Amino acid sequence: MSVTGGKRVLLAARPVGEPKESDFRIEEMSVPAAGAGEMLLRTLYLSLDPYMRGRMSDAPSYATPVAIGQVMEGRTVSEVISSSRDGFAAGDIVLSPHGWQTHAVSDGKALRKIDPELAPVSSALGVLGMPGMTAYTGLLDIGRPQTGETVVVSAASGAVGSLVGQIARIKGTRAVGIAGGPQKCRYVVEELGFDACIDHRAPDLHAKLKAACPKGIDVYFENVGGTVFEAVFPLLNNFARVPVCGQIATYNAIEMPAGELRTSAVTRAILTKRLTLRGFIVTDFAARHGDFLRDVSAWLHEGRIKYREHVVEGIENAPRALIGLLRGENFGKMLARIG
Ligand SMILES: NC(=O)c1ccc[n+]([C@@H]2O[C@H](COP(=O)([O-])OP(=O)(O)OC[C@H]3O[C@@H](n4cnc5c(N)ncnc54)[C@H](OP(=O)(O)O)[C@@H]3O)[C@@H](O)[C@H]2O)c1
Repeated sequence: MSVTGGKRVLLAARPVGEPKESDFRIEEMSVPAAGAGEMLLRTLYLSLDPYMRGRMSDAPSYATPVAIGQVMEGRTVSEVISSSRDGFAAGDIVLSPHGWQTHAVSDGKALRKIDPELAPVSSALGVLGMPGMTAYTGLLDIGRPQTGETVVVSAASGAVGSLVGQIARIKGTRAVGIAGGPQKCRYVVEELGFDACIDHRAPDLHAKLKAACPKGIDVYFENVGGTVFEAVFPLLNNFARVPVCGQIATYNAIEMPAGELRTSAVTRAILTKRLTLRGFIVTDFAARHGDFLRDVSAWLHEGRIKYREHVVEGIENAPRALIGLLRGENFGKMLARIG
């Protein structure tokens, strides 16, 4: 038996350029009933992440797109309401991949229990979740920062970038952020402890970055692409490492924008400066999950890492929030509070 009262968000249309609210459909749904060996989950927080723009498109990618009429993909922090599955009891808090819906039934296989004693449960979607793991592995395994080097990260006030710069500081490097607007830049320096932060929306990004990085750039953690990458690229030192994590400046692009950099100039610089540019998807480093949780939890408890969340209320506001995230309207890890 099921009762009404639930809601879910479906993909209604594939966006052309920037997504519109009409590309999503919000539906009432019955709260499903859990069968034998299953559990009923109630969503507390839904994570909103830039990769979701990719899932709305059917262009070739590393992941399968969401089909039209399907529930939007996403991770949630959820509460177990009832369970007949061994190992899970009512009241447990879990990380679940059940997408943009208020309730779901699970057999427990894709779930991970969250310890509410460790940190606020929403952090399992941010600093102690997928974005945190992305920052940790991309910086440490690909960027390999050494004491005294200079690390630059774009989208520096966001879920991934904020942690990259703070770990860079812990590792004894000079951390320079790039962020959109004076408020975000102030936060990055004054609250997160970066050495400097440059506003990419203000003029002269390249010149300001050059002044903030007097010894050049040894690691550039790339979250953005486009004109930000063009400003950074000429400042890379010999043997610099570039973890290529995201290209958010182009996620809504219908055509790739023409750029200043010419392919031959880029490949020539890669050769002569012996640069390493490596793309990665966080799941490539699944074996590092234990190290990540151990280190970042410890840094959090020692007060060496701070994080910020941008929370919207209700599943109805999730489409608008994702659209805003892709415009840079979020200030911190973007979440929708559902429960
Ligand atoms: N490879 C992986 O496995 C992996 C995993 C997680 C995330 N990522 C990538 O990491 C990046 C950051 O993700 P996040 O979850 O931490 O998001 P976030 O930084 O919390 O939010 C996205 C930010 O991107 C910036 N942005 C948006 N459009 C921009 C533009 N045209 N030019 C410059 N900056 C722009 C905005 O910050 P400003 O206002 O500061 O510009 C916005 O706040 C994204 O590219 C995402 O796709 C990759």
